[in-house]
Amino acid sequence: MIIAVDGPTASGKGTIAKALGKHFRLPHLDTGLLYRAVGYQVKLNGGNPNDEGDALKAAEIFPDELLGHPALRSEETGGLASRVSVHPQVREALFERQRAFAKQEGGAVLDGRDIGTVIAPDADIKLFVTASVEARAKRRWQEMCDRGESHSLLEIEDDLRRRDERDRNRAAAPLVAAEDAVMLDTSEMDRDAAVAKAIEIVNTLT
Ligand code: C5P
Repeated sequence: MIIAVDGPTASGKGTIAKALGKHFRLPHLDTGLLYRAVGYQVKLNGGNPNDEGDALKAAEIFPDELLGHPALRSEETGGLASRVSVHPQVREALFERQRAFAKQEGGAVLDGRDIGTVIAPDADIKLFVTASVEARAKRRWQEMCDRGESHSLLEIEDDLRRRDERDRNRAAAPLVAAEDAVMLDTSEMDRDAAVAKAIEIVNTLT
């Protein structure tokens, strides 16, 4: 069984995908981490994330250990990731790894932006997780507070809107729900309710 979970930043898709993996005993891949590693590697190289050549070089050389680096989780790296991810050659360089993960025996859960449309159009279950910008910004803000960082809610909202726009309007694999995806709006749900709903959807469809 392949489960594809797509959606914008802070929609809850990562949490849901991880929980689905645990519940259905399937390995889980957070594909955003791959783009974050590329963005961070460009920075380490002193390159420019908007330059396709610099970004491709980073995609080809980043070591696997980088995927566990805490700096990948930062907002700054998220911004770098959304810049490098517009380049078709970067997406192509990361394609095979994601595809192989999806096709492994026994199945898998992957979350990202283009899993249901590009990486695993043949997925058995496709979820498209959304939430209002306000709800997503509030979650991000709470996460940052918990880490002891202080940011203004409005700044976070602006940043999310910019990232959404870049992800939705890029030419290569834009953020869009697959035609056969089930929509899950988590604006009014807490973590447990969103996970329970996702499990229910998978159970209903299998
Ligand atoms: O999901 P996360 O916030 O970690 O993703 C970081 C960035 O990587 C996103 O803003 C998006 O631009 C890019 N991304 C992508 N395709 C994916 C996963 C992430 O373009 N499958």
